[in-house]
Amino acid sequence: MIHHDKASPETLAVHAGVDEYEYRPVVPPICQTSTFSFANAEEGAALFAGEEQGYIYSRMGNPTVEALENCIAALEGGYRALACGSGMAAIHTTLISLLEAGDHLISSDAVYGPTCTLIDTVLPRCGIESTSVDTSDFSAIEQAFQPNTKVVYIETPGNPTLVIADLEAVCRLAHERGALVVVDNTFMSPILQQPFRWGVDVVVHSLTKFLNGHADVVGGAIVVKDEARYTAFRKILNHLGGVLPPFESFLVHRGIKTLALRMKQHSANAQKVAEFLEGHPAVEWVRYPGLKSHPQYEVAQKQMSGPGGMISFGLKGGIEAGRKMMNAVKLCTLAVSLGGVETLIQHPASMTHASMGPEARRRAHITDGLVRISTGIENADEIIADLEQALTLATAKSAPRSALGCRSNPPTPANVQPSEP
Ligand SMILES: Cc1ncc(COP(=O)(O)O)c(C=O)c1O
Repeated sequence: MIHHDKASPETLAVHAGVDEYEYRPVVPPICQTSTFSFANAEEGAALFAGEEQGYIYSRMGNPTVEALENCIAALEGGYRALACGSGMAAIHTTLISLLEAGDHLISSDAVYGPTCTLIDTVLPRCGIESTSVDTSDFSAIEQAFQPNTKVVYIETPGNPTLVIADLEAVCRLAHERGALVVVDNTFMSPILQQPFRWGVDVVVHSLTKFLNGHADVVGGAIVVKDEARYTAFRKILNHLGGVLPPFESFLVHRGIKTLALRMKQHSANAQKVAEFLEGHPAVEWVRYPGLKSHPQYEVAQKQMSGPGGMISFGLKGGIEAGRKMMNAVKLCTLAVSLGGVETLIQHPASMTHASMGPEARRRAHITDGLVRISTGIENADEIIADLEQALTLATAKSAPRSALGCRSNPPTPANVQPSEP
């Protein structure tokens, strides 16, 4: 067994959560069961009363899920983790656990679309109000505080603008005002950013992305720092019901074993791609935490141990150029989501956010030419070559459609999902 306090993230990713099991398998076995039998009525009563430790029913706890939870908690440097059925289930469970009617929440204005919808349309039905601000702007956060502000919710880097909040400064301010700080650490993973080091109170993840890393699971996680919060969150998660099943837990736990290697490669590839894009004449701007041109480059250097795999850039030529580029890529896969081993590309204005009007897109920081890339672990030069040929076709004047290398089924309004970046 490893000593969690002494082990590095690379070692924890491989070993944390792996216990000793019957038959001594090296990998935690999949305990694919909905329920667990009791030896007798007395044991059942003791388990329900919390007088004995053990498993009762898989919504309340399962050994395969717990192995994953222990691994994630160790990587984040937290007390315990709770695996959830999706990133959104983790965010929902967290906010409902921390807030009640009459409370106020401050959130980053650049957050994942459905998180924004949850905060703007679902939480008000529970009597919870919110203010969204640019959380890279300290004074904007300060001004948004109200006497009833209980939580500051931060996504850093934010989706899709990659805006970065100074976690240390935000935590100091929030704690002075009696509020807690929750951070969505999906874009970084605990390999590149450990929010608890800066004073953050709760960390949430979409496991669907870098932690699993293989685009074959939807899942989420919450990480907390103490027993009291763990018990309170576990109770709410049990009642809301958005838990992760054992097989998905097994897959994510397996994915995490290569997390440190993958994050290194995502970062190295994305750095090369971002530098290529910054020098390309068809590109108006590039936002990437590893470029000195990023407005919060210094903050990124302080709190992140690598720039990560996510890049946003602005294409000259707006919506039409974006559409052409999406139809021209060959190696890069045209798809939503992020954090897998394969490079994914998407153009929100013509795809995920096409049904929003231009004004709503502007408020969500989605400019017409904005393209988002989740850089995979393929050969960086081959990713760049693909982007280069796609940029050439996208910006070519009146090229015949057959020359654009169009896919047979370009995205149509019927097969895109509005507001799902
Ligand atoms: C930053 C971020 N947080 C949360 C989520 C939601 O995760 P899930 O799709 O697993 O519910 C996403 C999804 O893209 C995301 O990008």
